[in-house]
Amino acid sequence: MTRTSTPLTTDRKNAHLDLAKTSQPLADHPLDAVSLPYCALPECDLNRVSLTTEFLGIELDSPLIITGMTGGTDRAMAINRVLADTAQKKKVALGLGSQRASLESGQSQAELRRLAPDAVLIGNLGGAQLAGKDGLKLARAAVEDIRADALAIHLNPLQEAIQPEGDHDWRGVLSAIETAVGTLNCPVLVKEVGAGLSGNVVRRLAAIGVRHVDVAARGGTNWAQIELNRRPETDRAHYAPFLSCGLMLPDAIAQARAVSNHLCIIASGGVRHGLDAAKCLWLGADLVGMAGHILRTVEDNAGHLHPKQLSDLLYTVQQQLRLSLFLAGKSSIKAFKRE
Ligand SMILES: Cc1cc2nc3c(=O)[nH]c(=O)nc-3n(C[C@H](O)[C@H](O)[C@H](O)COP(=O)(O)O)c2cc1C
Repeated sequence: MTRTSTPLTTDRKNAHLDLAKTSQPLADHPLDAVSLPYCALPECDLNRVSLTTEFLGIELDSPLIITGMTGGTDRAMAINRVLADTAQKKKVALGLGSQRASLESGQSQAELRRLAPDAVLIGNLGGAQLAGKDGLKLARAAVEDIRADALAIHLNPLQEAIQPEGDHDWRGVLSAIETAVGTLNCPVLVKEVGAGLSGNVVRRLAAIGVRHVDVAARGGTNWAQIELNRRPETDRAHYAPFLSCGLMLPDAIAQARAVSNHLCIIASGGVRHGLDAAKCLWLGADLVGMAGHILRTVEDNAGHLHPKQLSDLLYTVQQQLRLSLFLAGKSSIKAFKRE
């Protein structure tokens, strides 16, 4: 029996989608200050540059992930259907947004696995929910529902602290993640949502067995700003000083990579194109994630969906990434990362 999400959850999810579309990457983006090596003697064929990358035991056409955005409402499901179909066709990985609302209201998103039978699909739950009552049960249900290849646990204390209805009690999250790592039948990936995982946090996660992190740093979608905009005018001055909290993407990648060469690091936070993606790999990431830019491409302001525009965007990002490798004189991701 399928129930729908509460009107409150639907309103919040819709507001998040609408406000996230207005949250543009920083004008002075920190990746603009990073230069890639330029090789005037590439000795390789641009058209044969290979972007194939293995992730969670599956070969992707390129090291790209559409990171978790939404779920649990009709609008979210319509967006996720397009994302799943595209992930299957373009062989990129796909993260879902938090599955809490859909699971708690008895809705299944198993249809997404049917649309993307061969894709890497990543489930999603909040750290504070995982640490709550029945958190592990929810985590198991999230994995089972979409036969997830990994479960992402998002850490978003900045967002939750500013969100009018946010979770403020973050005690016990690390030990809940440790239990999930030891119990679930798939890897646990830990991510931020746009304020960045610091080296210190990544070190604590690595120490409890986490092997996959998405640093999801500052530079793109700004959840502090989005939640501030959902607050009454009278509250805003109180939270405004915190809008610039968090780490910038190049710094977050470097801090995470300094923890271990064996971690799988996903870089996200304002990635705009394939040259940005190449810079993230160059700085030490294994894969690159995009959310806000994908959302703005797939759904216009009138709520119409554009699957073709999304495919075209991914094609362009892949071609730009290929060109970046060629100009560095490298014919594969592996060779590029070894430089
Ligand atoms: C509309 C929207 C909803 C999001 N919801 C989630 C979520 O439920 N769980 C999560 O882990 N991250 C969520 N994120 C964060 C993204 O996965 C990503 O980490 C973040 O937006 C940074 O990437 P970007 O700058 O490319 O948008 C959401 C992002 C957007 C744009």
